[in-house]
Amino acid sequence: MKNQLNEVRRLAQEELDRIEDLKELEEFRVKLLGKKGKLTQILRGMGQLSPEERPVIGKIANQIRSEVEGKIEETKANIQKKERDLRLLEEKIDVTLPGKKHRLGNRHPLTLALDEIKEIFLGMGFTSVEGPEVELTYYNFDALNVPKDHPARDLQDTFYINEDIVLRTQTSPVQVRTMESNKPPIRVIVPGRVYRSDEIDATHSPVFHQIEGLVVDKNITMGDLKGTLGVFAKKLFGEKTKTRFRPHQFYFTEPSAEMDVSCFACDGEGCKVCGGEGWIEILGCGMVHPNVLKICDIDPKEYSGFAFGMGLERITMIKYDIHDLRLFFENDIRFLMQFK
Ligand code: DAH
Repeated sequence: MKNQLNEVRRLAQEELDRIEDLKELEEFRVKLLGKKGKLTQILRGMGQLSPEERPVIGKIANQIRSEVEGKIEETKANIQKKERDLRLLEEKIDVTLPGKKHRLGNRHPLTLALDEIKEIFLGMGFTSVEGPEVELTYYNFDALNVPKDHPARDLQDTFYINEDIVLRTQTSPVQVRTMESNKPPIRVIVPGRVYRSDEIDATHSPVFHQIEGLVVDKNITMGDLKGTLGVFAKKLFGEKTKTRFRPHQFYFTEPSAEMDVSCFACDGEGCKVCGGEGWIEILGCGMVHPNVLKICDIDPKEYSGFAFGMGLERITMIKYDIHDLRLFFENDIRFLMQFK
């Protein structure tokens, strides 16, 4: 039996020298020291020994048992350390490596142009306000003096939520909302999204942006309108820019006009940018109609005002020489990256 025990000790050492992972080590422990383990079985056979032999062999057996247990613990610790070292080596980071660069985006051309336009008007004492895109038919048409049978109200041109609610077709309803809740003097611009039931092509989109303007005070005249918009045109397109006003018709202004700017590319000579005209139309404007003032509870005998409205996409296209409006909405990074 002593030989058997020594053999166990030898085998244990041999195995432990070889084992390299924790699972295998645990299997080995069970095989040797577990309930059905080899050493346990040998010890069970001790009953057959003589009473003199028993304590001697028992002592050796216990010795070997604790020796092997110790060695198993030691091996376990070694394996764990090796695994930890390996993990640390794998996870090692080189703090001197350059970091990943995040490419900085830039503002959308429509935002760039809008910011510039806002800046010009803020400099002239205007404030920028906003209104709802889902709008009451009342504000979008009725309060703006648009007759009940006007074609712009047609289901084919306007997105209706129901009879009384539309996706606003213009930013002009915010004129009324502003005059309802503010007393003159009023000086506001209103940038925002508007909707019309148009097919998409190079110059049309069912969603686009307008910038509305409204000034109401005592003694406001067409001269104020021309002066203000003239300064605006020079700031946006260059100091040499001239303006001209052509009579037009809008329901909420009287008189009404469309404003052209002299072509900044050819100084009015006629070129590709202005289509040979020398002039480029950029906005609609006029003196606020007395009916609109009255609806907002502002006395037209005491106050007068001017208003204007321009399309942001159109202005941005002119300014940056862009020929297809769809580019604004397609999110092609090669296009967008050109505007810094
Ligand atoms: N709302 C008009 C449109 O969408 C543009 C416009 C014209 C606005 C004249 C105005 C204005 O404020 O006075 O066509």
